[in-house]
Amino acid sequence: MLHGKRILLIVSGGIAAYKSLELVRRLRERGASVRCVLTRGGAQFVTPLSLSALSEDKVYTDLFSLTDEAEMGHIQLSRDADLLLVVPASADILAKMAHGQADDLATTALLATDKDVMVAPAMNVRMWTHAATQANLATLRERGVHFVGPTEGDMACGEFGPGRMAEPNDIADAVSDFFEDSAPLSGRRALVTSGPTHEAIDPVRYIANRSSGKQGHAIAAALARRGAHTTLVAGPTNQPDPAGVNMIRVESAREMLAACEKALPADVAVCAAAVADWRVTTEATEKMKKSGTGVPTLEMTENPDILATLSAAANTRPALVIGFAAETENVVEYAQAKRSKKGCDWILANDVSPGTDTFGGTDNTIHLVSADGIEDWPRMSKTDVAERLADRITEQLGAGE
Ligand code: C5P
Repeated sequence: MLHGKRILLIVSGGIAAYKSLELVRRLRERGASVRCVLTRGGAQFVTPLSLSALSEDKVYTDLFSLTDEAEMGHIQLSRDADLLLVVPASADILAKMAHGQADDLATTALLATDKDVMVAPAMNVRMWTHAATQANLATLRERGVHFVGPTEGDMACGEFGPGRMAEPNDIADAVSDFFEDSAPLSGRRALVTSGPTHEAIDPVRYIANRSSGKQGHAIAAALARRGAHTTLVAGPTNQPDPAGVNMIRVESAREMLAACEKALPADVAVCAAAVADWRVTTEATEKMKKSGTGVPTLEMTENPDILATLSAAANTRPALVIGFAAETENVVEYAQAKRSKKGCDWILANDVSPGTDTFGGTDNTIHLVSADGIEDWPRMSKTDVAERLADRITEQLGAGE
């Protein structure tokens, strides 16, 4: 199903353009919303009115329409979609895409997009087999453009061979497969903790730490991008909310634990928060005053260990529980000990000794400690760590099926 998916359908010139009308219906039947761009060539075969009626949206045709640009610029048009679909993709538009030409709205959107592009080529058999077209196809494939068809068969031009556009239903199937493949965690639930906790001393003071929340937020974003229903329980941070996550803001360790327990069940839990180990036993209800009798003594109590609690949860333990170990020495040895002490499955150990700039910085060096041994990851950005971890989680959850 394509519920909630936004598709930008680019209809270029070719006799197969009439099939794009049926494709709009097939995609919408599956729950997608479809917005259309019609090239000048495409408009020789289908009318903006037909596409507009079937998509129940405005059809975009002209790059230099001031009204269109004011309402929805070509950049935004290409980025608002989850997938750009070129149906039919003529030899001409494929050549323009391969060479980065942008001389109309369709090709400009294709060059400006940050989304995946899928094309359904349709052309005469000789145009298809021509070395120029084949070279363009190779370039596009190498760049990650997705292809559906063409098939072999009778053509409108009277010839026979490859170049015939895939049928609308097959194109809709390819679109569904694309979203399924790009959301391998769909149907899975993920819980991530991130940031520091604040432990109140009195109404104006608290105990905190330097955690920025960068790593935990990036992990939640990466899991959500793979389709997991992701709850991010975050202490106070300046990080923006990642797209598509269920965000729960907390302050203290106890609030964080309560929010995590409420978010269960989950298939995977990643505890990336730097939870304060201790809190002040009795929080003062009024601001503590300086007095002449010296400094106050703060009696401390140990906070609950969220990672250990989730790992030990009797009925609701996530299939995969992952913690971090920030160490300044003997990183891997301490991480192995922490893994068994906390009862989690994986520990991502990282060196936070002075000079590494890990705390609050953009990079991280990880050693993944699991029952299978140790994986040493090269130094990389926290976003790349998140991507790699999300891929490993996907693999692991897939393997457990
Ligand atoms: O014991 P330590 O703080 O080094 O353990 C780090 C790991 O344990 C991290 O994954 C952190 O999120 C988690 N942790 C926790 N609750 C605590 C302390 C740590 O979840 N109270």
